[in-house]
Amino acid sequence: MNPDNLIKTANAMVCKGKGILAADESTPTCTKRFNAINVESTYESRKEYRDMLFTTDGLEEFISGVILYDETIRQSTTCENKKPIPDYLTSKGIIPGIKVDTGAKELSGFPSEKITEGLDGLRDRLKEYYSMGARFTKWRAVITIGDNMPSDACIYSNAHALARYSSLCQESGLVPIVEPEVLMDGEHTIEMCYEVSKRVLNVVFEQLMLQHVMLEGIVLKPNMIISGLNTPSQANVERVAEMTYKCLIDNVPSDVPGIAFLSGGQSSDLASAHLNKLNELYQNDMPWNLTFSYGRALQQDAIDTWGGSNRVKGQEALYFRAKCNGYATKGLAGDMIKTMM
Ligand code: 13P
Repeated sequence: MNPDNLIKTANAMVCKGKGILAADESTPTCTKRFNAINVESTYESRKEYRDMLFTTDGLEEFISGVILYDETIRQSTTCENKKPIPDYLTSKGIIPGIKVDTGAKELSGFPSEKITEGLDGLRDRLKEYYSMGARFTKWRAVITIGDNMPSDACIYSNAHALARYSSLCQESGLVPIVEPEVLMDGEHTIEMCYEVSKRVLNVVFEQLMLQHVMLEGIVLKPNMIISGLNTPSQANVERVAEMTYKCLIDNVPSDVPGIAFLSGGQSSDLASAHLNKLNELYQNDMPWNLTFSYGRALQQDAIDTWGGSNRVKGQEALYFRAKCNGYATKGLAGDMIKTMM
């Protein structure tokens, strides 16, 4: 491991004006998205869709890195003599990353809770991904809010796995994205989301430090602090920014170079509005850069307008969303968002 390279990569991933495109949907998830637009999900159609996204002209103006799925990192683009996708992204100034967990499975003894798997054999898989050009990784832990949930068992098992994963990645020269996602699903208040997220962040950093993970060489990917999806009275954008800032400033060490939010099922507009408000109000009062690592909030319009064949429209939609969120990392997307909402 070369600490300077890890720090350099982590800082490049979260630099001002740019964020990360999460395009690492597993094949079943990608198939679900394709079903919604009546496109058959095949090896070729998934490749065509990802190729459409990545070859968007000017994407590198607002996108610092792309998270790939195992199938995609082994595929080639349609352009530039069919370059392998990671090489193509690197040549464009975009850092290739790879999802390395093998999914959230039922946590034994705790029905309705999940544990993310994938540690067995991880060291060897990381070596291969590094040799293919990946320079960062992602591992997503899932925490559910509900009756007697989350349990300590769920929080501790997931935090332990995140820390073991992070340590292995740094050993292999890869920057780990540490993603402890507290799900939006449910009828909980924003205050409950705050309390649970605070508890989770504390245990995650305790475990990261226990495993000697170098915090300067990670990127944290948390949820924002928001009301449950089915809560009748939804907290407004200012309140989300205020509660999210408070949760992060009190619980995330200043050694971490940057925080890249997941969108988690928020609409594309709201995900941009929240990020923009956070940076508009607090960017000078934080030790880390606040940016995005959105999947759905960047891709939803693109997949709809692409519809299986319209590359130009799909790329226009992705470029617009990337630009809007790029501006939101500086708190400068206000005018763009006003026209959208
Ligand atoms: P969403 O932004 O769609 O939540 O996806 C981000 C992600 O990478 C989840 O692991």
